[in-house]
Amino acid sequence: MASLGHDVVGVDVDPGKVARLAAGTAPFYEPGLPELLAEVGDTGRLTFSTDMADAAGARVHFLCVGTPQQHGEFRADLSYVESAFEALVPHLAPGDVVAGKSTVPVGTAEDLARRLVGTGVTLVWNPEFLREGFAVQDTLHPDRLVYGLPSEEGVPTPEGDAARALLDEVYATPLAEGTPLVVTDYATAQLVKVAANSFLATKISFINAMAELCEATGADVTRLADAIGYDARIGRRFLNAGLGFGGGCLPKDIRAFMARAGELGVDQALSFLREVDAINMRRRVRVVDLVREVSAGSIVGRRIAVLGAAFKPDSDDVRDSPALSVAAQMQLQGAQVTVTDPQAVENARAKWPDIKFASSAQEAVQQADVVVLATEWAEYRALDPAELGDLVARRAIVDGRNVLDPAAWRAAGWTYRALGRP
Ligand SMILES: NC(=O)c1ccc[n+]([C@@H]2O[C@H](COP(=O)([O-])OP(=O)(O)OC[C@H]3O[C@@H](n4cnc5c(N)ncnc54)[C@H](O)[C@@H]3O)[C@@H](O)[C@H]2O)c1
Repeated sequence: MASLGHDVVGVDVDPGKVARLAAGTAPFYEPGLPELLAEVGDTGRLTFSTDMADAAGARVHFLCVGTPQQHGEFRADLSYVESAFEALVPHLAPGDVVAGKSTVPVGTAEDLARRLVGTGVTLVWNPEFLREGFAVQDTLHPDRLVYGLPSEEGVPTPEGDAARALLDEVYATPLAEGTPLVVTDYATAQLVKVAANSFLATKISFINAMAELCEATGADVTRLADAIGYDARIGRRFLNAGLGFGGGCLPKDIRAFMARAGELGVDQALSFLREVDAINMRRRVRVVDLVREVSAGSIVGRRIAVLGAAFKPDSDDVRDSPALSVAAQMQLQGAQVTVTDPQAVENARAKWPDIKFASSAQEAVQQADVVVLATEWAEYRALDPAELGDLVARRAIVDGRNVLDPAAWRAAGWTYRALGRP
């Protein structure tokens, strides 16, 4: 926002994060973000604070706090949204816009808007679609913008029109680039985000279900995905069979969506998402089974190197990471696991202090009985099977992401196993 020319203050309750940001350091790994912070740091247009009072005077207030899964339930935990909103309200002035970005259960915006009645402040729902690893690009050049405005019978109210004009100013640059804009009501805007994530999760679990069929029949899921992907109605993207999805969004979003559907009395509409979730979670167990298979039936005492800890490449985010889940399962089942990741070791160690961590793939695989590729970082895809073969005790690899060339690895003397492939 600051690089687009706006004056921005970022408010967070975490003093550590605010201090790092104020010093111009990104508090997490995101390609391009350090450069962008340095670029806008010199302009003086971006400041950080732990004090919500510093939000006073801004015309647009983006609400972007976390909405994790509630402990022991599928439902979203809205306590962060609640406390941020409550803390913000006293600092708002008539004419201000609050723009909700957090992914929330449908109905949340309506509830927050009711609490702003009489204040002259308008609530807009403006869901966020950025992808970790591409966050800078996705924010500066989004593939679409969605405004959920206060409306009556599908028509924005005068306050809604005024709020839209203000958001159009905020997004003037991407809008001038031709970014599609969908203007709609609160309910649709909130549903867009969870519908999109549910579709993506379903696509991944669909191809992973096909992988199970492939394993039962000797077929190759990667060739199957190529072949069905040529159909433009299907498309090849997000059809990569493997260890499945994780992270701080997809798993909790589909669960919160199911919980909300139940509250709305339409749980049947989303019962398929239970299956999507179950297929996804089975992948993690299946990878451990594959490791057991290449370890002559037992992983007890085996030295296993896991390449990857982040839930996806180009991120240091380990929330609900399939890679760490596999590593932890094997460790708990008696294997001696060493995990490495180009960026996520620090975060992973904080979660699983009992696991051994290494600073490179070469160090992690020393004397390993099995190597597991769990997160498809470019540097792991590019590993040379002959060079790596000199470091391990046994040449056995489980490619949890279907990104290696089986022929090349087998030619170098490796036992190669992957999900959904012979
Ligand atoms: N991470 C993504 O890729 C992504 C993409 C699209 C949408 N979303 C949605 O955006 C929201 C945020 O996700 P995230 O991954 O950035 O979460 P996060 O937990 O990494 O960050 C949330 C931040 O909010 C701060 N916070 C908590 N309570 C606060 C309060 N009362 N006042 C001020 N700050 C407070 C936390 O300290 C933290 O820094 C979620 O609803 C998520 O579903 C995330």
